[in-house]
Amino acid sequence: MKFFIDTANIDQIKEAKDLGVLDGVTTNPSLMAKEGISGDKAVIKHYEKICNLVDGDVSAEVIATDFEGIIKEGIALSKLAPNIVVKVPMIKDGVKALKYFYDNDIRTNCTLVFSAGQAILAAKAGANYLSPFVGRIDDISWDGMQLVSEIAEIYAIQGFETEILAASIRSSKHIVEAAKAGADVVTCPLSAILGLLNHPLTDIGLEKFLADHAKAKAKK
Ligand code: E4P
Repeated sequence: MKFFIDTANIDQIKEAKDLGVLDGVTTNPSLMAKEGISGDKAVIKHYEKICNLVDGDVSAEVIATDFEGIIKEGIALSKLAPNIVVKVPMIKDGVKALKYFYDNDIRTNCTLVFSAGQAILAAKAGANYLSPFVGRIDDISWDGMQLVSEIAEIYAIQGFETEILAASIRSSKHIVEAAKAGADVVTCPLSAILGLLNHPLTDIGLEKFLADHAKAKAKK
């Protein structure tokens, strides 16, 4: 399973990269706004910065919601760097655009996916990645991870090549569950990635090892 970081924050991207486990980055308009990035030029500059920083895929989301607008924006984004993946919303014109991008060798991530039906449609249209939003489904008291399992089962039966990118991940537990559910990629906040490190028995065990080592050394 690939690890993407879900942020537009350069320091956090650098920290995940330094850990040696980073395979890519996903952003969205809200994450860009959180970093104070607005205006076409600033957005483009920021994407270029992220793309230069990481080797893996960087999802850059279109703002347009009509077919022509999505195509225009997607083509411009795809020219920024070879590792750009155009993020397209799961709407009618978005599905049409996914097919256009597929036919024109522009890689895509279909976002805002909340049902297996949407997942089938995106795969039929040739999306490279599919982003089911696990946390947002949990937020309305449904089971977000169940959707990831369902899509994984359908894609395996049907032989769809679209990669399942579990998104809206809120915790380290979500990452483990996404791995079990058959996600190809998980995109998560830095805190959820770093949270995977934690176990009290690791801390206790290390403390004991180091104390025993110090004791043995003092005896010599
Ligand atoms: C990623 O592609 C999504 O935009 C993101 O994971 C959404 O996460 P959120 O539901 O925590 O905003």
